[in-house]
Amino acid sequence: MAGANEAVQATNDDASLCKRCAVQLGYWDDPYISLFVPKYERKTPEINRGYYARTKGVGMFIDQFMEKVGENCQIVNLGSGFDTLYWRLKDSGRNIVNFVELDFPNVTSRKCYFIKRNKILLDKIHAEDGEVRLSSTDLHAANYHIVGVDLRNIVEVETKLVEAEIKFDLPTLFIAECVLIYIETIQVQRLLTWLAKTFKSSFFINYEQVNMGDKFGDVMLQNLRARGCLLASVDASKSLDTQKDRFLQSGWDGAKAWDMVQIYGMLPAADRQRIERIEFLDEQELLVQLFQHYCIVVGWKGDTFKDIDIT
Ligand SMILES: C[S@@+](CC[C@H](N)C(=O)[O-])C[C@H]1O[C@@H](n2cnc3c(N)ncnc32)[C@H](O)[C@@H]1O
Repeated sequence: MAGANEAVQATNDDASLCKRCAVQLGYWDDPYISLFVPKYERKTPEINRGYYARTKGVGMFIDQFMEKVGENCQIVNLGSGFDTLYWRLKDSGRNIVNFVELDFPNVTSRKCYFIKRNKILLDKIHAEDGEVRLSSTDLHAANYHIVGVDLRNIVEVETKLVEAEIKFDLPTLFIAECVLIYIETIQVQRLLTWLAKTFKSSFFINYEQVNMGDKFGDVMLQNLRARGCLLASVDASKSLDTQKDRFLQSGWDGAKAWDMVQIYGMLPAADRQRIERIEFLDEQELLVQLFQHYCIVVGWKGDTFKDIDIT
């Protein structure tokens, strides 16, 4: 089991390297990712475009969530890895009530280490009133918290969220990018049920694999298995419907889902044209296949977020 956990944790290194590469090539701006990932490794144009669509697609829903509630909200990033959203939000002038990141202690301890020794990262956290409290795996500042926890352990998740000063009655955005698929179906179900029950008004953005029942999906599964990584809840990634059902069966009021072909098509045309000029794409077909096998699913609790959409 320890081996399987390590393989899952290592997926963060891969995701971070991919983001770092795409940022360096100019797909989007992120002055912070290189502070967590000093190494530059060239990725294929398909991967870079995939990460662009993912970052912009998720960003589009974050913007809509914030248009609804303003800054009086909190964001909880589940399996956050080395994600830099907290710093990027700050730079965009949005100062929300609370931002909490959860991941395995092995991952959060590395993130805490990077933050501790980097003035640029630390200053943005310090800019809030109050001090920064750090342990080897957790960090607590005025409106930013990182906590080490196994998302399969709901009791521990609750304890850690309370330590992170989360308020269960404040509008809350949950983000999970390529995380739930690594967790067994029953445990995802328990987590989603607990979140739906505990938070009064919330919106969930889940980015991960879809259409995994076909040949392309099989190859993806084999590649991950070869790296020791089981996609433990791949059954929820069969189709957009199974993705939505997971929310509907866990007490969420509604859910919508789109594959990344649809999401990419909804991004501003000028932005797409700009990034399509960055690198020559040899095989358009491969990119389309890749986009067909990832999706964004949103779920909501309460009426505030039900009209959030891709139009
Ligand atoms: C593919 S990475 C994605 C990281 C980040 N969300 C991103 O998009 O860059 C998956 C992350 O989920 C975390 N994760 C998976 N299962 C988890 C669990 N049971 N508890 C806590 N974190 C988990 C891993 O440690 C890893 O950091």
